[in-house]
Amino acid sequence: MVKILGLCCSPRDGATQYALEQGLKAAAEFSPEIETELISVRGKKIAPCNGCGYCKREKTWCCIKDDMQELFEKIIHADGVLVASPVYVMTATPQLHAIASRMRPAMHCYPGMLRNKFVAAIAVGGTRNGGQETTIDDIFHLFGTRAMNMVTNESGGYTGAKVWSQDGGAQAAAQDEIGLKTVRDLGRKLAEVCYIYTLGKQAYQDGCENK
Ligand SMILES: Cc1cc2nc3c(=O)[nH]c(=O)nc-3n(C[C@H](O)[C@H](O)[C@H](O)COP(=O)(O)O)c2cc1C
Repeated sequence: MVKILGLCCSPRDGATQYALEQGLKAAAEFSPEIETELISVRGKKIAPCNGCGYCKREKTWCCIKDDMQELFEKIIHADGVLVASPVYVMTATPQLHAIASRMRPAMHCYPGMLRNKFVAAIAVGGTRNGGQETTIDDIFHLFGTRAMNMVTNESGGYTGAKVWSQDGGAQAAAQDEIGLKTVRDLGRKLAEVCYIYTLGKQAYQDGCENK
C-alpha cells in the first residue's frame, strides 16, 4: 500500500479540515493501492523547539515529551503528506511552525529519513487573495528544509491548492468550487507521484537484488 497522510494544521474543525478531506478523497480515488489517514493538530499539545540542542548533542529524539512523537511517527510511515493550513497573518499556523521546528532530529540525527517522501500544500484563507500563495511557500520551506520533496499543482493551481473560506468554516469553503478543484487535482497528483515512486523504488530494489 502507498500511504498518504493528511496533516490538518488548523486548531479548529473548520474549512481547512473540510478541504483536506476532499484532497484525501481524490487521492484515494486514484488507486485502490492508496491508503489515506487524516491527523489534526486540534487538541494536541505540541510545543515549539526551544533550541536546547539536546537532539543535536545526543543524536537522538527531542527531549520534550508531548504529542509530537506520535505525529512524527505518522510522517515517518507515510509516503506522502498532504499538508493543509489556514492562512494566519499570510503564513501557515503557529501550530505547523512548532511541528516543523520539532522535526530538527530528522536532519541532525537521522539524515535521509525523510528524503524520499513527498509533500503537497493546501492553504485556506478567509479572503480570496489573503495569503494562500505565501502560505503554500511557507509550507514548502518548512518541509523542504526537512528534506522532503515538493509536489506542485498544475494549470490553475500552480504551486498548490488555494481555498477561500470567507471565514465561514466548512460550509462556506464548500462553495468555493474553483478552489476545491485545485484541492482535488493536488490530492490526485500527490497520489500519482507517490504511487509511481513506490513502484519505481521496488523495481530498483528488485534489480539490485538480482545483480
Ligand atoms: C490569527 C488569524 C490570522 C488570520 N490571517 C489571515 C490572513 O492573513 N489572510 C486571510 O485570508 N485569512 C486570515 N485569517 C482567516 C482564516 O485563514 C480563515 O478563517 C480560515 O478559513 C480558517 O480556517 P479554519 O476554518 O480551518 O479554522 C486569519 C485567521 C486568524 C484566526
